[in-house]
Amino acid sequence: MAQKKIVVVGSSNTDMTIKSGKLPIPGETVTGGIFYMGPGGKGANQAVAAKRLGGDVTFICKVGSDLFGDNSIAGYEKEGIDTSHILRSNQASGTALILVDAASENCIAVAPGANSDLSEEDIDSIAPVLKQADFLILQLETPVPSVLKAARIAREAGAYVILNPAPACELPCELFKYISLLVPNQTEASLLSGLQCHDEECLLEAVARLRAKGVQDVVVTLGSKGSLVCHDGQVERIPAQIVQAVDTTAAGDTFCGAIAVGLSEGLSLPSAARFATKASAITVQRMGAQNSIPYRKDLI
Ligand code: RIB
Repeated sequence: MAQKKIVVVGSSNTDMTIKSGKLPIPGETVTGGIFYMGPGGKGANQAVAAKRLGGDVTFICKVGSDLFGDNSIAGYEKEGIDTSHILRSNQASGTALILVDAASENCIAVAPGANSDLSEEDIDSIAPVLKQADFLILQLETPVPSVLKAARIAREAGAYVILNPAPACELPCELFKYISLLVPNQTEASLLSGLQCHDEECLLEAVARLRAKGVQDVVVTLGSKGSLVCHDGQVERIPAQIVQAVDTTAAGDTFCGAIAVGLSEGLSLPSAARFATKASAITVQRMGAQNSIPYRKDLI
């Protein structure tokens, strides 16, 4: 049987990370950390995760006409991702500055550059690819009108549309009806539902509100507490694996890419979430974004 097509539309960044004992407070300098640079961006991380875990992946993003952009595309090609629809911008490629402390908490500042240039016209130009997708994965590091347009085109053509609403922001009502699966964390579920959730009861109310807006299924990721899988009116709690986290960057991205692969292979949503939980447990035990994402063979 032909493999299902997973298309990811989203951001591509170069991440510059310093891991140190503690995160600085405003005005403070913290020294003694270690620095590394590597490929990142939520869209790219999700595309790489889906590919390494066994998916047939096309990645669409916008990068600058610069060395970072060239390196990013070369990296995606090396992964075996279809890069033939990646676009170039006159703006610099996206970059992220990431600080990680000893307890694996992080702070991220992103200069989106070319990512913010992914326009609705660009989405029109890749409409044929979106119409052939079985699964479309989206996040919010590219402009919301473009996210909305991509979701509409793909869903109307019959694709299963997954939105990871990160980083959190207000979204147009229309977008929700094109979302087959929303994968927010607790903060994002709170913002999108208008509730300030601190417990499961509140999160379930938030999920009910999101479904009332038109979202079909919801998986709320809860970090070390696992995830809440809400589908067909049922709720399943998937525990996290107990591991020693060193850097949680790209854990959520790995989860999203993995869930798409699981679903594309015919797993139920709870089973796909269990598969994704295993994958992201590996990511948090390694440093970096894409450098930390596992391959299928790592998930024994
Ligand atoms: O989700 C992690 C990603 O967020 C990093 O790779 C960084 O580029 C930011 O976009």
